[in-house]
Amino acid sequence: MVRFRDIMGGKKAGHEKHPISSHEPGPEIQRKETSPAKEKREPELVLSSSEPELESITESRSLRSPESIYNEALILIKRLLDNPEEGKERSDEIRAIVRELVQEVTSGHREILFLTQEQSPSCYLYCHSVNVTILALYLGLAMDYDKEELLILGLAAFLHDIGMSKCISIVQKKGKLTHGEFNIVQRHSEDGKNWVKNIDTLPHRERVGTIIWQIHERINGKGYPMGLRGDQIDEMAKVISLVDTYETLTHPRPYREKISPPQVMEMLLEMKDEIFDAELIRTMVEQFSLYPLGSYVRLNTGDIGKVVGINKEYPTRPQVELLFNGPGKKVEHRTLNLAQAPAVQITEVMDEEELILEQKE
Ligand SMILES: [Fe+2]
Repeated sequence: MVRFRDIMGGKKAGHEKHPISSHEPGPEIQRKETSPAKEKREPELVLSSSEPELESITESRSLRSPESIYNEALILIKRLLDNPEEGKERSDEIRAIVRELVQEVTSGHREILFLTQEQSPSCYLYCHSVNVTILALYLGLAMDYDKEELLILGLAAFLHDIGMSKCISIVQKKGKLTHGEFNIVQRHSEDGKNWVKNIDTLPHRERVGTIIWQIHERINGKGYPMGLRGDQIDEMAKVISLVDTYETLTHPRPYREKISPPQVMEMLLEMKDEIFDAELIRTMVEQFSLYPLGSYVRLNTGDIGKVVGINKEYPTRPQVELLFNGPGKKVEHRTLNLAQAPAVQITEVMDEEELILEQKE
């Protein structure tokens, strides 16, 4: 099976501490120089010449795999970011793919959530948009949004960085941004709002545009572009803002490596009622588990494993794929559901770098 990471030429990255910031590069961000090899890797999407028309895609949707839905969303957002003038002619495709993502998220399955864990630094804006959409929909689901509300949330999340189409080269820059470049990047909220409101065939375009405009507002009034506070900010903008930050920090960027999901959860909890609503963070921690998918944990049995499933009823007892039992001691891979193994406890959350170092010992 072709994974989207393969399509994008992705590569896993390690872990590094980094100041809290959303993906937008601010002057305060110290960017890490990357190797020439990394600089050369550009996203390259090869579209099938026999790509089905919208009608046939819609008819076969319920039979498609989460990976296929993810890849179609990825291809569409790349097209839109690379050719923003195609917005009007592609509005049906935008609505269709977001509806399909809503259908997938509300189906009770969580496989598509796994796909949000991987991303290549070179394709980050495209993967990021799809990941943020999926994460926002799961958070919206936990907030009891109905399907029409999820459609609005999904559309806003999917298009939240469409205003970046004018400054993709700036946000992928490896060095520190100049003041002028930072001002250009900050205009993407306004550009995104205008782009959406201009597409008269897009459902809920007024609300969707307003949400996109407000995503970088912060409840303490220190966001942009308006400096709105608390309840002045649309709730859906707060949802997307939170998952935007979570997604950004848990994935590598051209100028830094990723931070482990449990650490990001802790960082977000420290920002409660300052940057993000405390209640919203609590709902996210619950929905994505205290031990997010993909995190590594050590058990009281001595086993080390990767969290591969979340038990919503028991957020402290996820499903763990066992990998090792001590340095260099691989165990036969099997999944242990901690909700059904009361004697087994998680004693430590490990980051990937720590695990690799330990296994080298
Ligand atoms: Fe974003």
